[in-house]
Amino acid sequence: MTILVTGGAGYIGSHTCVELLQSGYEIIVLDNFSNSKPKSLKRVSEITGKSFKTYQIDLVNRNKLEDVFSQNKITAVIHFAGLKAVGESVQIPLEYYHNNLTGTINLCEMMRKYEVKKLVFSSSATVYGSTGDLPIAENSRLGATNPYGRTKLMIEEILRDLYESDHNWSIALLRYFNPIGAHSSGLIGEDPKGIPNNLMPFISQVAVGKLECLNIYGNDYSTKDGTGIRDYIHVVDLAIGHIRALENLENNNGIEAFNLGTGTGYSVLDLVNAFEKATGESIPYVMKERRPGDAAVCFADPTKAMEQLGFKATRSIEMMCEDTWRWQKTNPNGYTGNLELNRKDQATVL
Ligand code: WQD
Repeated sequence: MTILVTGGAGYIGSHTCVELLQSGYEIIVLDNFSNSKPKSLKRVSEITGKSFKTYQIDLVNRNKLEDVFSQNKITAVIHFAGLKAVGESVQIPLEYYHNNLTGTINLCEMMRKYEVKKLVFSSSATVYGSTGDLPIAENSRLGATNPYGRTKLMIEEILRDLYESDHNWSIALLRYFNPIGAHSSGLIGEDPKGIPNNLMPFISQVAVGKLECLNIYGNDYSTKDGTGIRDYIHVVDLAIGHIRALENLENNNGIEAFNLGTGTGYSVLDLVNAFEKATGESIPYVMKERRPGDAAVCFADPTKAMEQLGFKATRSIEMMCEDTWRWQKTNPNGYTGNLELNRKDQATVL
């Protein structure tokens, strides 16, 4: 079974590659390295002792994308590749729509042409917008509130239409809540470009001394301590959720959405306190105004993934903090160095 992993060099992609290889799958990674580093893939090989092909390709490049399908026998696809910064998507919506939608349509057209009809799609809890339901279930009202979230919602609709046109497709839409943490080896982890938008990488960069102080956006929400509540899920649990979803596609045609979350919400201050306790590092912070577009509380109803995929997140908030810190302190500047790709940017075996 050979799985094509688009965006496989990214944070969630690289952790999923580790779990795929350790579950006995062959993988091929496709990444344009616009928001990831080739070194993450060398680290995947280091962790697993396995090698795999990597193509440095942009999904909007149809000809290069076809090479991947014509040169390999692909069984299924896990599709991570896409731009994913909420704030940036508001600034450059056209690039987000082109990159995320055109890239996905190109991918699906190639899958159809080469008769590859099993797809796991990296969606997001951001498709729920501000539903009001808590916990959020898969049948909660959908309504993205930013261009990034709208690309995820539109892709979900495109995939539903694709399935309606051909019931030989098997598609899983995985809606992530808040992935944090890192592989226990400390060799792979989150390596955001520039100043992190998300809470945990910001905390860990304060802890390692790259950033001075955490800004906590809003302490006047109607929550137990006034700060925002989210459903943090360990990235390794999230990666395992992709393996369960892939297995489920084996015998099930159709298209289904699944929440990947823990069902437990933690506030910003909960996470700061947990990180300080787990690492012994202190995190100075200042309270700031709310961040536009932030919901007060967001956490998953994880029942459907448990019942239909046999998936349940098991790693604690303490482990999420410990594993984040191990990655950050051993890689204070994230990944460095470049993968040597041959002259034509063709596949190279790592
Ligand atoms: C979490 C909490 C902030 C940073 C985002 C995307 C979502 C998904 C996950 C892709 C909130 C607070 C944050 C900081 C803070 N990504 N915060 N100071 O916004 O829940 O979700 O990442 O799919 O699409 O929207 O995650 O980590 O940015 O924020 O106080 O420096 O931490 O207000 O309450 P979010 P986050």
